[in-house]
Amino acid sequence: MSLYQKVYDESIKNPEKFWDQAAKAIHWYKPYTKVLDDSRKPFYRWFVGGKLNTCYNALDRHVESGRANQVALIYDSPVTDTIATFTYKEMLDKVSVFAGALQKYGIKKGDRVIIYMPMIPEAPVAMLACARIGAIHSVVFGGFAPNELAIRIDDAKPKLIVSASCGIEGKKVIEYKPLLDKAIEIASHKPEHCIIFQRSQVKAPLIAGRDIDWDDAVSGVKPAECEPVEATDPLYILYTSGTTGIPKGVVRDNGGHAVALHWSMKNIYGIEPGDVWWAASDVGWVVGHSYIVYGPLMYGATTILYEGKPVGTPDAGAFWRVISQHKVKALFTAPTAFRAIKKEDSSGEYFKKYDLSQFKYLFLAGERLDPDTYYWATDLLKKPVIDHWWQTETGWPIAANCVGIELLPIKAGSPTKPVPGYQVHIINDEGKQLPNGTEGIVVIKLPLPPGTLPTLWQNDDKFRESYLDIYDGYYFTGDGGYYDEDGYLYIMGRIDDVINVAGHRLSTGAMEEVIAKHPDVAECAVIGVEDSFKGQLPVGFVVLKEGTTKNHEEIQNELAQMVRDQIGAVACYKTTLIVHRLPKTRSGKILRGTMRKIADKKPYTTPSTIDDPAILDEIKDALSKITVSA
Ligand code: COA
Ligand code: AMP
Repeated sequence: MSLYQKVYDESIKNPEKFWDQAAKAIHWYKPYTKVLDDSRKPFYRWFVGGKLNTCYNALDRHVESGRANQVALIYDSPVTDTIATFTYKEMLDKVSVFAGALQKYGIKKGDRVIIYMPMIPEAPVAMLACARIGAIHSVVFGGFAPNELAIRIDDAKPKLIVSASCGIEGKKVIEYKPLLDKAIEIASHKPEHCIIFQRSQVKAPLIAGRDIDWDDAVSGVKPAECEPVEATDPLYILYTSGTTGIPKGVVRDNGGHAVALHWSMKNIYGIEPGDVWWAASDVGWVVGHSYIVYGPLMYGATTILYEGKPVGTPDAGAFWRVISQHKVKALFTAPTAFRAIKKEDSSGEYFKKYDLSQFKYLFLAGERLDPDTYYWATDLLKKPVIDHWWQTETGWPIAANCVGIELLPIKAGSPTKPVPGYQVHIINDEGKQLPNGTEGIVVIKLPLPPGTLPTLWQNDDKFRESYLDIYDGYYFTGDGGYYDEDGYLYIMGRIDDVINVAGHRLSTGAMEEVIAKHPDVAECAVIGVEDSFKGQLPVGFVVLKEGTTKNHEEIQNELAQMVRDQIGAVACYKTTLIVHRLPKTRSGKILRGTMRKIADKKPYTTPSTIDDPAILDEIKDALSKITVSA
């Protein structure tokens, strides 16, 4: 039996023993009384009765145990030509002072703080400062438009928002303050204060009484001590796209999260304390939360915060430069970043210029790793390229090749096998388990391991309805896939209306809500269409109101602008096809799945429930006239 199998079996046979053992690596102010509380099924709680502080585990205890002068965070920003390092002691000082500033403005345990920041060190400082005083942060990705930020403000009801004067996207400077002001104007809930970090590129005007300059906020402040919180208290809320325009507020607790992330750094990623680790993502996404900030710091590693792109900042050698300059042991990014590099430097000319001898692993996640990209990266790096699968909801990998336990043979297109703690099953519509080799719905048997979402923010009902009530005893992942004859898992894509554009998770339902507001639109459907660079791109099908005389191109441009303004540039919504009718079942359900298959040139059967099969020909015809590309 492989070592992986042994560890996996232990985690399933006796989860309480397994995670109790893992929890010994965490500092607890008060030990938990129960490892797993299953008294309120289908809700489960880990490490009940225990008290800890996530910031203490990420910073203080490393300073106290001899890592004070080790670099905790390297800020590498080609867009501002800056490289700055912060030791564990320096991070602790900055975080304690900012936590003191939050207290000065009335933030207490349980209060929500929204963080709308670019990739600068002040973003993790603000996150850890919230954790330090038991406040609940909610980081909103900088690429979201004011309307999306407003939706999150209204749900989380933050007392305070932390932001910056601008972000830098490649060569563009994006002013954040007008976006923030607009979001607060749209939202019904109003924060008491906003703390704004003024970057040298833009000085944002501040609203007297509400806005405070970061420097003024921290001036003369008494550093805050760590506040012990319950293991089950929320550490953060992270909103993620669901099937509708209302995002889901994924809650992360403190105890399970600390235990799971600490365990994952060594066992999944093969990292040791002191190693340099780089997750090239954004703090606004779950990868940024777990593997730029909390995981590596709780483990005593050095983390890199990279404000740049894989290409264009300044060239397709950017990743190799960072890896070589900072002696990175492992990189985690999305396949799309590698496709971007491949597009510009397919023969790896830039790669040859750098010494990457200390580099050991490349981890890819966030979207399906297509075999072409896998082979290209493997041939270039000559190092293990590890595909792994997870979601915002789980907070850490569900399936991976756990290199810290044992590197299993890699199969292109598969994220290997379930990670210890996760029982991943493939079922059909009726909830019946399917044999290996048959594609179906991917579900995870309850209970989920520590660190995964205990619920949605103040919405137990929606948590049940979206994830738990669909198949009794299981968590519904929203993905489709299968196991092969060797027990390797393959994740083939979402079976709901969530799409993945350049590793960014988006909702086609949210785009439909925006498009439906256009005065000339009678009906619409948005689907994700395969794209060889960004993985998927959204395409809208629109039926115009009778009597509309407006030029089609004008409507198409207006729709693209509306989605950009109301969701954000990251949606990459550019293509609208104007059709006479949408294909529907006789009961009126739009046949999005069939449309997707036609668009991706996959085999499909005309559903027997369709009200008019001829409409599919119009869809096919409309798609044949366009090239969807990023
Ligand atoms: N703030 C403001 N705007 C942002 C933004 C941010 N944080 N992130 C992206 N955008 C904008 C981009 O500037 C672009 O705007 P444009 O339409 O005016 O050109 C638009 O959103 C689309 O962005 P993106 O899809 O990221 O395309 P890109 O061409 O800028 O970059 C990649 C393409 C592949 C290089 C980039 O997506 C990438 O590095 N992806 C890595 C994946 C990743 O980080 N995934 C996160 C989860 S692991
Ligand atoms: P997010 O919540 O943004 O992390 O997106 C989660 C979704 O991304 C999953 O439900 C999958 O559809 C997709 N995804 C993430 N990682 C992988 C992977 N390794 N292979 C296939 N799909 C993936």
